[in-house]
Amino acid sequence: MRIAHFSDPHVNLKYHPQHLPRLRRALEDALDRMKADHIIITGDLTSNGDARDLRTIRRLFESLGIMKSSKLTVVVGNHDIYGGPHLAEEVLSFPERCRTTRYDEKLAIFQDAFAELFADTITMTPQGYPFLKRVGKVCLLGFNSIATHSYIQNPVGSNGTILKEARDQAADLAEHQAWKSANTRVALLHHHMFRNRDIEHLDIADGLSASGLAGKIEQRTLKLHGKRQILKLFRQIGVTMALHGHVHFTGQYERHGISFLNGAGAVFPAFRSAGYYYNMIEVSAKGGLEFMPVKLEKKEIRSLQLDNTPAIVGE
Ligand SMILES: [Fe+2]
Repeated sequence: MRIAHFSDPHVNLKYHPQHLPRLRRALEDALDRMKADHIIITGDLTSNGDARDLRTIRRLFESLGIMKSSKLTVVVGNHDIYGGPHLAEEVLSFPERCRTTRYDEKLAIFQDAFAELFADTITMTPQGYPFLKRVGKVCLLGFNSIATHSYIQNPVGSNGTILKEARDQAADLAEHQAWKSANTRVALLHHHMFRNRDIEHLDIADGLSASGLAGKIEQRTLKLHGKRQILKLFRQIGVTMALHGHVHFTGQYERHGISFLNGAGAVFPAFRSAGYYYNMIEVSAKGGLEFMPVKLEKKEIRSLQLDNTPAIVGE
């Protein structure tokens, strides 16, 4: 079975019109050329959580025949809840916007937009996270890692956490047969698990420098609080691999014997000169696991930027 992993397409028809065709190009590459059986997108599907963008992404998925649980899995990202500042004048007012965001409402809108993809998940909460989903012999464990607003811990919505309650629920879900009998167990979350001091050891796509990336991350508040407890949970329940995004590059690293893949470089990479990549994961019938970054040709991306996909833009 082949799984393609993407993250952070940040679709936004108003400020990032090129992201929708880039996402389409990337998904088509995974489905048609690389023959992916299943697609995973780990959050920030939208840049601003706008209903119009959610509808447009749905239509893209429908047009590709992947708007079904067996073909596609998504988890929510911070931009899907809080949005982001897209104009210079929005930067100052953005913390106030985060403070007044109705978190539960925004999460429900996201979940509703992709309801079919959650239809056969196993979960204990009405919000839908954490959830288990079985795809062949692979079992996915999806988390909502988006922290609620806090002046100190999460002033601009970009920091994450997985609260103890959710970690306990995940531990309970791991008792389920769907998880226990799987030959590959994959955790999905939006936030990354590397520390800034690990950056030099990340295996990152060609053309990226670790120091340039460190600087980029340093400028922002992009933390996941409680990484140690999350890692402990992952080890305890036998997570084989974890997929995430949030920081916009493609790369892989290992922590405590678990492979982590960052898949946020296919549509909106931090360094465009490095190229556009996504992750392809191949799981053999016996549970053997191989993964590699797949590069999208620059030429094709450029030609698609001229295409504003009129058939799926609207409303
Ligand atoms: Fe993010």
